[in-house]
Amino acid sequence: MADYYFKMDDMAVGYQGKTLIHDINIGIDKGEIVTLIGPNGSGKSTILKSITKQLKLIGGKVFFDDTSLQEMSYKELSSNMAVVLTERIKTELMTCHEIVATGRYPYTGRLGILTPEDEQIVDEAMKVLDQTAKVYGHSISYTQLLMGGASIDVNGVPLTEETLQLAKDSDAVLMGSIGGDAKTSPWYQLEPSKRPEAGLLQLRKGLNLFANLRPAVLYDELKGACPLKKEIADRGFDLMIMRELTGGLYFGKRSTEEIDGVLTAKDELTYNENEIRRIAKRGFDIAMKRNKKVTSVDKANVLDSSRLWRKVVEEVAKDYPEVTLEHMLVDNCAMQLVKDPAQFDVVLTENMFGDILSDEASMVTGSIGMLASASLNDTKFGLYEPSGGSAPDIAGKGIANPIATILSAAMMLRFSFDLDKEADAIENAVAAVLKDGYRTIDIMSEGKEQIGTAQMGDKICEYIK
Ligand code: IPM
Ligand code: MG
Repeated sequence: MADYYFKMDDMAVGYQGKTLIHDINIGIDKGEIVTLIGPNGSGKSTILKSITKQLKLIGGKVFFDDTSLQEMSYKELSSNMAVVLTERIKTELMTCHEIVATGRYPYTGRLGILTPEDEQIVDEAMKVLDQTAKVYGHSISYTQLLMGGASIDVNGVPLTEETLQLAKDSDAVLMGSIGGDAKTSPWYQLEPSKRPEAGLLQLRKGLNLFANLRPAVLYDELKGACPLKKEIADRGFDLMIMRELTGGLYFGKRSTEEIDGVLTAKDELTYNENEIRRIAKRGFDIAMKRNKKVTSVDKANVLDSSRLWRKVVEEVAKDYPEVTLEHMLVDNCAMQLVKDPAQFDVVLTENMFGDILSDEASMVTGSIGMLASASLNDTKFGLYEPSGGSAPDIAGKGIANPIATILSAAMMLRFSFDLDKEADAIENAVAAVLKDGYRTIDIMSEGKEQIGTAQMGDKICEYIK
């Protein structure tokens, strides 16, 4: 806990016409030296002015540039107070960029998915983010963006150019899952390119989010919910699916036409070596931070794209001598995931295989409502969303599990903002809430206390330290 807090809740700092910072609450320890860093017009002088005003009351000092700081001895500095540490203010400014919460769609999900209800799930994530920001002295501002069904209802299309641009202008995008009930929702009367899912694909492509990280972890507390045999569940598992997200079948040419009187549909599967190389590097990088094993999954016994995949992955592996690489055919991988999931660390695979295997991997955890995901490009930007799909059947009932979305927010703090401590705080709070026996209906078991979506959000906030 910091010695002093500077509150600037009545100000909004703007940059290039955009509001970046609201309600700043910066904590500073006595003796901490702080330099404000940020582009011209990012609000440094407004922050300084506000802090200076407040410092008068407690007798601290503010130094306006590096030179004046350097002129002071450490002793002099430590008996006074400057403004915020260099690294910290960087963080501060990063956090103060907008986080865009999309996904206020008219659907909902058991698994931390969307809508009227889902809206609630994203709300719970924002609640936890706000609480974390409060405890750690950060500030986050939100811009609401419409995507998927919510955008169709308002704009007639699942993603507008303007929304894409607003997403690009943000540091990160947090959202719930998309998709309504295909049988009953009018969105599914539209042609495929105008349906909710098309918006998601355009967003992924438009933001160049080629790396999709989908962790599948068996929580100790939830082992009972794992559908695998007890002896397999007891071994536990913690794997990361690294799915290529902007290539392959999802983005190839497709057509349906009549050829010689026969309706014929075609979907093209293309990968070039650069697309494979960049995702492979990401996979190996992540493996270096984990258990240093990569299982590259393909169908090299049949597909050319898979043979190229294997070749490029092998080349990339040479730069990571500490990482063990193995290749696995996708059908075998599907089987191994239920037979012995503990063998996996990073599973590196192309778009379609990753889509399928990640659903399977999440199901075997028994708690798909707990799993987060991140989609990253080659900057710090990321799109964070629950791993599971939407669950329109429980929309609006206040019972959906918000944990996947809340853990996605934690991933966002870790990957896009470099706020590891804060991400840990959220993950630990989730673990503690589970340990103390609180459950939403999807993960409920005997002897535990069942709570709803909002209560779960509140509980997690209580445990943020
Ligand atoms: C996912 C989803 C999407 C996909 C759908 C909604 C288009 O299943 O994120 O896994 O297939 O990528
Ligand atoms: Mg999927």
